[in-house]
Amino acid sequence: MTATKGLEGIVATTSSISSIIDGVLTYRGINIDELAEHATFEEVAYLLWYGKLPTQSELDGLLGRLDAYAAVPDPVIKQIKLYPKDTNSMAALRTAVSSLALYDTEANDMSTEANLNKAIKLQAQLSTIVAAFARIREGKEPIAPKKGVSIAHNFLYMLNGQDPEEVAVKALDQALVLHADHELNASTFAARVTVATLSDIYSGVTSAIGALKGPLHGGANEAVMVMLEEIGSADNVESVITDKLANKEKIMGFGHRVYKNGDPRAKHLQRMSQELGKLTGNLNLYEMSIKIEELVTGQKGLKPNVDFYSASVYTTLGIPRDLFTPIFAISRLSGWTAHILEQYENNRLIRPRAEYTGPVSQSYVPIEER
Ligand code: ACO
Repeated sequence: MTATKGLEGIVATTSSISSIIDGVLTYRGINIDELAEHATFEEVAYLLWYGKLPTQSELDGLLGRLDAYAAVPDPVIKQIKLYPKDTNSMAALRTAVSSLALYDTEANDMSTEANLNKAIKLQAQLSTIVAAFARIREGKEPIAPKKGVSIAHNFLYMLNGQDPEEVAVKALDQALVLHADHELNASTFAARVTVATLSDIYSGVTSAIGALKGPLHGGANEAVMVMLEEIGSADNVESVITDKLANKEKIMGFGHRVYKNGDPRAKHLQRMSQELGKLTGNLNLYEMSIKIEELVTGQKGLKPNVDFYSASVYTTLGIPRDLFTPIFAISRLSGWTAHILEQYENNRLIRPRAEYTGPVSQSYVPIEER
């Protein structure tokens, strides 16, 4: 038995949800470029869950259910109020999602219908939790979700207490579309491993949030913003990045396990970053990002991934940097739950082997002789 480090190149399951073939990402066979241009996030969530784009009445049905489920049970909000004010935002989300299960009477109902219902419920509630957490830690009251608006609109409304501008809603909605699913990424794999034991959907999503939190995965978007703040202006880019590369530091937002010739989602976020910068009259973050890309691609041959330009997009939308990864979770929840449903449909326990590298032929030594 020989281990493959990081399971690189290992095909661990079959899936009909999203594909990455020759650097092209599709959801249910539809190119992400087309979806980013034309689809709303809710249509994409429907596509991931049901395997087809919704008709108008099917979409209206989903929107009605998302509206009906968007409020979070009171005890969960009360618990969030007890979290330490400096709690890590992904730790808060992980804990709150886990506690949602305690107040859901169908939490352990394993029927397909109940699991799909829970996926929709979680999708509706995640943005409410993130916005409530962000307000509560600032000593503000959470704002109840609004009916009849998109998840992107509702999130910005619940975060800021006022209806967002259309351009902000469109940008966030597109970002949610681009992050919704990504084949067998680390957090989706974590979700599938968990539910393959026939554990419940809340356990699967809680595992996924824990995996997404790390800076090698979803946590990179926040880490990119930390770097942009450290650099400060386009004039400082060359010296800071050259030093980091010379010190063999990883540049956050670059590189990818699967894409070696560029992440197809990055160009959309780059365009959004530029457009939002122009609209707000502040292109500093965009210009810094472009310069970083030139240097890192030029010196290391590494291309930006989905996280790199997300940082400047979200900051320009006025979103605090430690909410970037929770926003990623709001979007990826659609993909996680689609994968969880697929795993249940054709389940087998996921239990690989390890190549043993420890000592052999050892004997037990009584404690007084050690
Ligand atoms: N900056 C500098 N060097 C890098 C970077 C980077 N961002 N990424 C990879 N490299 C280098 C490595 O140091 C390594 O060099 P070496 O062979 O001289 O040791 C080589 O490229 C291969 O890198 P690995 O880390 O082995 O590649 P792996 O496929 O395991 O990792 C990963 C992929 C984790 C995304 C990596 O590129 C990375 O750490 N990037 C920065 C974090 C990041 O942006 N994560 C988000 C990924 S997208 C997502 O999850 C949503």
